Amino acid sequence: MNRIFSGIQPTGNLHLGNYLGAIRNWVRLQSEYECLYCVVDLHAITIWQSPKELTHNIREVAAGLIAAGLDPRRNLIFNQSQVSAHAELAWIFNCVARMGWLNRMTQFKEKAGKNRENASVGLFAYPNLMAADILLYKATHVPVGEDQKQHLELTRDIAQKFNNDFGVEMFPLVEPLILGAATRVMSLRDGSKKMSKSESSDYSRINMTDDADLIAKKIRKARTDPQPVPSSTEEFDARPEAGNLVGIYAALADLAAEEVCVRHGGSPFSDFKRELADLAVSVLAPIQDEMRRLMASPDEIDAILRKGAEGAREIAAPILTEVQDIVGFVRP
Ligand code: TYM
Repeated sequence: MNRIFSGIQPTGNLHLGNYLGAIRNWVRLQSEYECLYCVVDLHAITIWQSPKELTHNIREVAAGLIAAGLDPRRNLIFNQSQVSAHAELAWIFNCVARMGWLNRMTQFKEKAGKNRENASVGLFAYPNLMAADILLYKATHVPVGEDQKQHLELTRDIAQKFNNDFGVEMFPLVEPLILGAATRVMSLRDGSKKMSKSESSDYSRINMTDDADLIAKKIRKARTDPQPVPSSTEEFDARPEAGNLVGIYAALADLAAEEVCVRHGGSPFSDFKRELADLAVSVLAPIQDEMRRLMASPDEIDAILRKGAEGAREIAAPILTEVQDIVGFVRP
């Protein structure tokens, strides 16, 4: 049976990269698969989070997922810390994964920066928890943006080593689903960096909560080169900022990037940016309205998360029990 799991960190503003790289695909997959979508608060605290902001952000991300079109009646939407089996399986995986594997993780290197000695142990072990998230449900497919590919390869390595070490066929080898025209949305200020919550300049990203004026202003100020809109995707490598804006347009309009080049190639960027801003606002405004409505009734969000966690616990419990038996623990 196919089962989808994916997660998102409640570490600040949701941005267009999260939406185009992940959330929008999740919405499309909900009609085809059994899906679990998780607000990964345990992952969030691998880097310091102010408790009040964390609580707010967990609800805001959940609201964003629902507002974007995830139906809580069809999917399990929950926050990770409500299902303690994630942490329990992660501990077992801490004992399966090798230091050498984790040392190779580029996200750890990026996030820990130069001062590795000062990074939390949790940040280092982060990919093991991610493997636990997925394998706790024996998920087969994981829709993510391009940046998570390496973590999913590690998840496969962990699954394989667990199966080999214990001589079992317990865990499936998960398949990443990296879909759409914007699998790696780049910063609006620098086409060589991905759009991210942690980038200091707010002008580098479009947040899901930005109003129409701010979206238009950020797109107007987005860095480009002096040439017009590319006429072919072959120009993207040499013109990353231009390629990024075309890619964003394509994803928002549900077109292939090549098609956008055919339609808009040769136009001045000032015109293209105006159209892109209108398009972004038309896609994001209804989501923002619904997010605001939900954020005004946190009880409604909490009830959805509670119900999602109950459903998740039901699937997870027998799988964790099976793992504990395989490892040889004595259970009650
Ligand atoms: P996170 O919270 O950084 O991002 C959530 C999702 O958004 C995608 N994404 C992007 N896609 C395209 N362009 C971008 N600039 C961009 N920025 C973010 C991410 O690829 C991701 O799909 N480790 C994960 C969370 C996680 C998880 C999991 C994911 C925890 N457990 C299990 C899948 C399965 C993360 O930090 O995502």
